[in-house]
Amino acid sequence: MTDHDLLDRLGEALGPKGLVSEAADMAPWLTDWRERVTGGAIAMALPASVEEVQQVVRIAAESGTPIIPQGGNTGMVAGGVPRPADRAIVLSLRPMNAIRSIDPADSSMVTEAGVILSEVHRAAEEADRRFPFSLASKDSATIGGLVSTNAGGTQVLRYGPMRSLVLGIEAVMPDGSLFEGLSSLRKDNRGYDLKQLLIGAEGTLGIVTAASLKLFPAAPNRVTAWAGFAKASDSLSLLRRLEADLGPVIEGFELVPAASLALVLDHIPDTRAPLTEAHAWNALIECRDGGDARALRGAVEQALAGAIEARLAADATIAASEAQAEALWKLREAISEAERHDGVAAKHDISVPVSAMPGFIESATAKVEAKFSGTRVNAFGHLGDGNVHFNVRAPADANGDAWLAGEGEAVSAFVHDLVAAEGGSLSAEHGIGQLKLAEYARLTGSVRLDAQRAIKQALDPLGIMNPGKLVPLANPPATP
Ligand code: MLT
Ligand code: ZN
Repeated sequence: MTDHDLLDRLGEALGPKGLVSEAADMAPWLTDWRERVTGGAIAMALPASVEEVQQVVRIAAESGTPIIPQGGNTGMVAGGVPRPADRAIVLSLRPMNAIRSIDPADSSMVTEAGVILSEVHRAAEEADRRFPFSLASKDSATIGGLVSTNAGGTQVLRYGPMRSLVLGIEAVMPDGSLFEGLSSLRKDNRGYDLKQLLIGAEGTLGIVTAASLKLFPAAPNRVTAWAGFAKASDSLSLLRRLEADLGPVIEGFELVPAASLALVLDHIPDTRAPLTEAHAWNALIECRDGGDARALRGAVEQALAGAIEARLAADATIAASEAQAEALWKLREAISEAERHDGVAAKHDISVPVSAMPGFIESATAKVEAKFSGTRVNAFGHLGDGNVHFNVRAPADANGDAWLAGEGEAVSAFVHDLVAAEGGSLSAEHGIGQLKLAEYARLTGSVRLDAQRAIKQALDPLGIMNPGKLVPLANPPATP
C-alpha cells in the first residue's frame, strides 16, 4: 500500500477531523517530553471510538505499518513517539476522553484512555470517592498512558503503582479484535492475566482504550509537611519512625536533596524555601485520612517533634493551608522541569531494596562524581518505594548533547551496573521505551528476555505494535 493509499484508507475510516498528516500539525506529538527523540510518522490518527481504533489497527496490519499509541506524551523514555526512521501511524487516544461510568457502591470508575488524570480525580471527588494515584504531570497525563506504562508517582507507598489500581481493561489487540476485560472484579483467578500483561506493556501488545479503576473512600484531611535533615540515611529512619507513630496515614514520602531544591528555587517562578536554613536533605511528607482534621494535624506535629528530639530531623514545617500544601508539592513536582531548564542530565529511574537506598545514594554519588569529573548527582524522589531518580547533571561547561551521547552513556552504564550489583532495577516506574532499551537488553537475563519475545511474537506476530520499544530484538544489527 502506498502512503497515498494508506492516507485515503485512514481518511475514509476516521473522517477529516480524525486524521492529521501535515508535518507542522504532527510536530508537537513526534518529539518526546525530554526532547531526546523526534520520530517519523506518515499520519496521526485521532479515533473517537473503539470501532475507529479497530479500523486503524486493521489498516495498519494490512499495510504492515507501525502503529504508535500515544496519550499525553509526558513519558520519560520516548515510549510514546516513533523512532526517527519510522514511517508510522501515531494513534492518539486523546479524543477518547469520556468517563463512561462511576459506581460508588462498587468503588470503581470506567474511563476511556484519553481522560486526563486530574479529570479522574475531580470526577471521583464529585462521587465522594477518591482515585489516589498522582504524579507531577497529572494535568496532561492520560489514563491510557498511565496504564500502559504502569506509572508510579507519589502515592505508591500506600496505594502501589497503576498495576494495583486497575481492575479491568478494554484493549484493541494487534489484529483489530477487542479484549473486553473491563469488569471490576476484585477476585478473578482464571490463570494468565491478560489485563496485567497489557498494563506496563507500553503499547507493544495492544492498545488500551478504556480502564476500570479502583476507587477509595474520600480522604479530605490532608496534612503536608516538610522536614530537613543532614544525612541521606536519616531519611529512612525518619520514615520508619513516622510510620510507627502515625500508622498508615502516611501516603507520600519524597526525598528532596539540597541540589534539587536549589534547581527549583532558581528556575521555577513563585517558589520559596520552606525552612529558614538549608539542609543537605529534605523530605516531603503527605498524610491523609477521612477523620478529624485537627486530630491528624496534631498527631503529625507530635510525630515530627519527636523525630526532631531524636535528631532524625533538624527542622520541620507543616503546611497551614491547602495553598501552602500545594506550594510544598510544587517544590517537589517541579524538580524535573527545573533540571531540564538548567541543562542536560543523564537520567536514571532506579530502584533497589528500600533498606539499601540511603546507602546506595551515598556510595553511588561518591563513586560517580569521583569517576566523572565535574558531574553533579541529583538523586530525588520516591524514597519510601526504594526508587529515586538518580540523575547525573553534565559538568557546567559541557556541550549538552555531545556530553549526553558520549560521557553521559558511560555514566548511565556505570550507574546501572551499580544498581544491578544491588539487585535493583534500571526502570522503577518510567518503563523502557526507546531510551532504556539497550541497557535493558544488556542487563537482563535470557530467560526473561526470551519469555518477553515469545509473548510479543504470539500476540503481535506482524510486529506492528509500537516497534522498537520495550522488547529488545534477539539479534540486533551490529553497530558500525
Ligand atoms: C518524578 O518523580 O518527578 C518523575 O518521575 C519525573 C522524573 O523522573 O524526572
Ligand atoms: Zn518519579
